[in-house]
Amino acid sequence: MTSGLLSYEKISDLISQRIKELALPDEPENLYEPIRYMLGLGGKRLRPLLAVMSHNLFDDNIANAIPPALAIELFHNFTLVHDDIMDNAPLRRGHETVYKKWNTNVAILSGDALLVKAYELLSQSDPALQPRLLQAFNQTALQVCEGQQLDMDFENRSLTCKGVSEKEYMHMIELKTAVLFGLSLQFGALTAGQDEAVARQLYEAGIHLGLAFQLQDDLLDVYAGDGFGKQTGGDIINAKKTCLLVKTLEQATLEDKRKLAGILKTKSRQPQRKIKAVMAIYEKYGVEAYTANRIKAHLADFRQAITGLQTGREQNLLSLIEQLAGRQR
Ligand code: IPE
Ligand code: IPE
Ligand code: MG
Ligand code: MG
Ligand code: MG
Repeated sequence: MTSGLLSYEKISDLISQRIKELALPDEPENLYEPIRYMLGLGGKRLRPLLAVMSHNLFDDNIANAIPPALAIELFHNFTLVHDDIMDNAPLRRGHETVYKKWNTNVAILSGDALLVKAYELLSQSDPALQPRLLQAFNQTALQVCEGQQLDMDFENRSLTCKGVSEKEYMHMIELKTAVLFGLSLQFGALTAGQDEAVARQLYEAGIHLGLAFQLQDDLLDVYAGDGFGKQTGGDIINAKKTCLLVKTLEQATLEDKRKLAGILKTKSRQPQRKIKAVMAIYEKYGVEAYTANRIKAHLADFRQAITGLQTGREQNLLSLIEQLAGRQR
C-alpha cells in the first residue's frame, strides 16, 4: 500500500482503481449494468478524495481510509440515481441519467443496490472502528434523506405568499449536501485514529465546504453552460428554491414576484426562453454576486478550520479547494 504524504493525483488514481475493481455480477443485467454505467461515468470523486486526504493529514498509511471512503462514494452515487428521478433530470456527468436510459423502476432498484454495496464496503473497514463509522454514516445518510425531502417540499411552496427563507434554504442544503462533506472529512480523522475533538473540527470544516459546494452547484446550474454535464437551467425548469431564487424573492417587488411566479409556472416547450426571463430578474436583484460572496465566505471558513488543525500537511487539501473554487462542473 502506498504511504507518505500523497498527491491529489495519486489518491485520485487509487480511488478510481478501487472502484474499477468492485465486484459486480453480470446478471440480472438490468440491475447491475446501470450501476456499472453510473460508476463508469466517474464524476469528481470528491468525497472519497476528502476522506483519504483527511486521513493523510495524520497518517502516512492510508489503507484503513479506503473502504469507508468508497462507501461514501457509493452512497453518493445512490443519492444521484434517485435524485435524477426526483428532479426530472435528463443529464448527469454529460450522459443520459439512469432513469432516462433505462426506466424509473430500474433506477430505483439499482440505486437501492448501490446503497447496499455502500454498507458492504463499510463492513470491510477496520472492525475496531466499525461501530463509530456506522453510527456517523447512518446519522448522515438519514440527514441526506431529510434534506432531499425538504428540497422536494420547497418546490411546492408558494412564491408570492410564505416562501422559503434563506435560513430554511441553508438548513436544507446543509442536510442534503453539506453533511456528507462533513462525514467524509470526519471519516479521515477517525480512520487515522484521531480523537473526537479533531474529528469534530474536520466535520465542521466539511460543513462549510459542503455549503459552498451546493451554493456553487446552484450557480453553475444557471451559469455554467455545456461543460457542466447537467441540463442547463434544470433548477429553473423545476422551480427549485435555490439560493438565487430565494434571495430574489426576499428582495423583489410584488410585481416582480408575480412575474417570476408566472414564468416558473408555465410548462414551456422552449425552456431557453423561460431560463432567459428568470435570469433577467436574477440580474436585477444581483443574486449571482450575492451567492458568489457567500461561497467565498464559506470557503474562507473552511480554510481557517483546516489551517487551525496545524498538522503542517494541509497544503494538498487547500490546493484541492482552490481547484474546486474555479470549477465549471
Ligand atoms: C452532485 O455532486 C450533487 C451535489 C451535491 C450538488 P457532485 O458534483 O460531487 O457530483 P459528481 O460525483 O462529481 O458527479
Ligand atoms: C443534490 O442536489 C443533493 C443530493 C443528491 C443528495 P441537486 O439536485 O442540486 O444535485 P444535482 O444538481 O442534481 O447534481
Ligand atoms: Mg435534487
Ligand atoms: Mg438534482
Ligand atoms: Mg443542482
